[in-house]
Amino acid sequence: MPDIKLISKNCKGFVSAEELKAVSKAIKLVHKELKDKKCPGNDYIGWLNLPSAMPDKLVEDIEDTAKRIRKNCDVFISLGIGGSYLGARACIEFIKPNFANELKSESPKVYFSGHNLSSDYLQDLFNVIKKKKVVINVISKSGTTTETAVVFRILKQYMEKIYGKNGVKDRIIATTDSSSGALRKLAETEGYKAFIIPDDVGGRFSVLTPVGLLPIAVAGISIKELLKGARDFEKKCAMLSLDANPAYKYAGIRHILYKKGKVIEVLSSFHPSLRYLGEWWKQLFGESEGKDGKGIFPAACEFTTDLHSMGQMIQDGQRNIFETFLIIEKSQATIKVPEFKDNIDGLNYLSGKDLDYINYKAYEATAGAHYDGKVPNLSIVIPKRTAFHLGQLFYFFEKATAMSGLLSGVNPFNQPGVEAYKKKMFKLLGKPGA
Ligand code: PA5
Repeated sequence: MPDIKLISKNCKGFVSAEELKAVSKAIKLVHKELKDKKCPGNDYIGWLNLPSAMPDKLVEDIEDTAKRIRKNCDVFISLGIGGSYLGARACIEFIKPNFANELKSESPKVYFSGHNLSSDYLQDLFNVIKKKKVVINVISKSGTTTETAVVFRILKQYMEKIYGKNGVKDRIIATTDSSSGALRKLAETEGYKAFIIPDDVGGRFSVLTPVGLLPIAVAGISIKELLKGARDFEKKCAMLSLDANPAYKYAGIRHILYKKGKVIEVLSSFHPSLRYLGEWWKQLFGESEGKDGKGIFPAACEFTTDLHSMGQMIQDGQRNIFETFLIIEKSQATIKVPEFKDNIDGLNYLSGKDLDYINYKAYEATAGAHYDGKVPNLSIVIPKRTAFHLGQLFYFFEKATAMSGLLSGVNPFNQPGVEAYKKKMFKLLGKPGA
């Protein structure tokens, strides 16, 4: 099976061979720091070897638990925010059919909550799950995140009312820290099954831990294939040469462009199934790089839809943007444009053509037009919508994020800025001690 690949030809004229040579020297130094665990944030680099170090026993436990859940419910709710939410959603939306919850299926319907404080969202969810058999997976590394904790408290009460205090024991699963935090305490007190988030893996790097793997397995996706792809790229992205290691090449080019004033990166895709991958990517890069007054602002667009909105800004606005296209090489479906005798709409020049072919031409045209408009662009080509390729992509982006952040001199593994709103909110809410 071909790997995902990085194409950088549309950076010609923006990134020179000399600049790449210089950045590869800097990459060499950071690579050593990362390998020797001497970089800033070195207590949070457990994700580096996660795919290869994943114990078979843990994979089995996740798969067995997922099997039980699938038998035991019509609705599975994954509760979490940020890194405790986006990876699983990105994977499920990438692999499953676009309208999966609308389809009759062996798999439970999967819903997400605990990532906002909207009462309407929660009420609508209650309306959807009424009279359905429900299982909840509450996910929080700290175990104290307000959004997730408050929504969990409300859902816990609902579940206990329906299934009783004892009945919820096999309907609530916690994924949290090994020893600290309120959720760990709660899981122990209430007797919930609990999965551990490794101490040295931060939220946004945790998709390949039980944080992402359990909801993904419940959705009926092969976590073994996902991990296989990630393992492949763990090897590939450990190489030093930019030509052999796409993560380092991507990080190097981003760094060069950033230094030249390209301070916004737009991740553009042409398939709705990539929407949450864009959200996951935004969090990964935004939270990792945006600190100390530095960082590339990550934005995501869904084309061709957004070519009729954001396309104008990208083509003609301030020239501080570069773009990364996420391309799916081969769609699962083949839908051809029909031939109409009257040809009133003038579309017969497309008859017999695959919709996927037209979409691909839209990508080629957009990449070319944006390049002509002085927006250098890269493309990441995903051969197919498979768990294996997504595993490669997850690892590729994680490694590139670490390298990018370290190249610009920040600690990519913390998120001190997130505390600012929390402090103010706790004060406004009257939290004791705030
Ligand atoms: O990347 C991160 O660390 C954050 O985005 C967290 O995942 C997010 O804030 C949720 O934290 P927690 O899992 O502690 O509830």
